[in-house]
Amino acid sequence: MARAKIALIGAGQIGGTLALLTGLKELGDIVLFDVVEGVPQGKSLDIAEASPVLGFDAAYTGVNSYEAIAGADVIIVTAGVPRKPGMSRSDLLDINLKVMQQVGAGIKEYAPDAFVICITNPLDAMVWALQKASGLPTNKVVGMAGVLDSARFRYFLADEFKVSVEDVTAFVLGGHGDDMVPLVRYSGVAGIPLPDLVKMGWTTQEKVDAIVERTRKGGGEIVNLLKTGSAFYAPAASAIEMAASYLRDKKRLLPCAAYLSGEYGLDGLYLGVPVLIGAGGVEKIVEIALDANEQAMLDKSVASVKELIAECQKIAPGLA
Ligand code: APR
Repeated sequence: MARAKIALIGAGQIGGTLALLTGLKELGDIVLFDVVEGVPQGKSLDIAEASPVLGFDAAYTGVNSYEAIAGADVIIVTAGVPRKPGMSRSDLLDINLKVMQQVGAGIKEYAPDAFVICITNPLDAMVWALQKASGLPTNKVVGMAGVLDSARFRYFLADEFKVSVEDVTAFVLGGHGDDMVPLVRYSGVAGIPLPDLVKMGWTTQEKVDAIVERTRKGGGEIVNLLKTGSAFYAPAASAIEMAASYLRDKKRLLPCAAYLSGEYGLDGLYLGVPVLIGAGGVEKIVEIALDANEQAMLDKSVASVKELIAECQKIAPGLA
């Protein structure tokens, strides 16, 4: 059987890492696209030259034209500008919205059957704009945020409990911003919920609260350390997990930014919710019961996402 074709739009920090991980996981052949000449070509050649050492087979092509993404099975979008220190996610909106319009047009023309994963920030607004600009069905366009946010939550919890990251599960709902909703009672170690672990004396409520806060600000923590860009290893790894679930029809249940049509009482926007990803794209959106406190946090997060979408609609009325 022919290998899958994976197009990566944006050959920057995340795009390059995605290109390496796609090869290492042998998900398929890679087309790396960027507007800057030489960068996708150089990174493609560099990774291809690593493949004999690392022991994987994948064809790499670096391109500056959308024609080359024709027939892609999966497209992962990181094109745009990353957040710099002092910049909020909404500061990015103006620049990256224009980029999503260009990328959406390219996908519409050359790869309308692809499963598209958006990483560009501000995520919930950019994935909304990308779906509108590409005209692809909503079940084929998702945003990567929740896998990353819950990975950060899991890592911090594993570090606190000194247990394997593999045994820690965590769930984060809502928009990909500082008011995301880490769900404490749906998170825990080997099936033991966090509130029980507090009762068992493994940690304190104060420490859990601090970890929740650190998770919410996880993107900013990295931006402040790197100074010249934003996180790229964990975002790339998270998107690869989503792509693999689609390509291998694994039916993983992952927190992703998905288009809501009535779920959670919301309509016409993208929001981080538990999603089943299989060969059909977004095959199911799972509605979990929220208590009053969780619902209030989600409402706040939804209000921020709606504001960002309203800003997009103001800048690009054609998208709505
Ligand atoms: N079309 C295609 N590529 C573009 C365009 C465009 N219109 N505009 C910019 N790019 C490319 C840049 O040339 C650059 O190579 O997008 C790439 C972005 O790479 P980086 O600047 O290294 O950013 P990265 O860290 O990869 O993050 C990309 O993901 O997490 C988000 O906030 C982050 O929005 C940012 C995006």
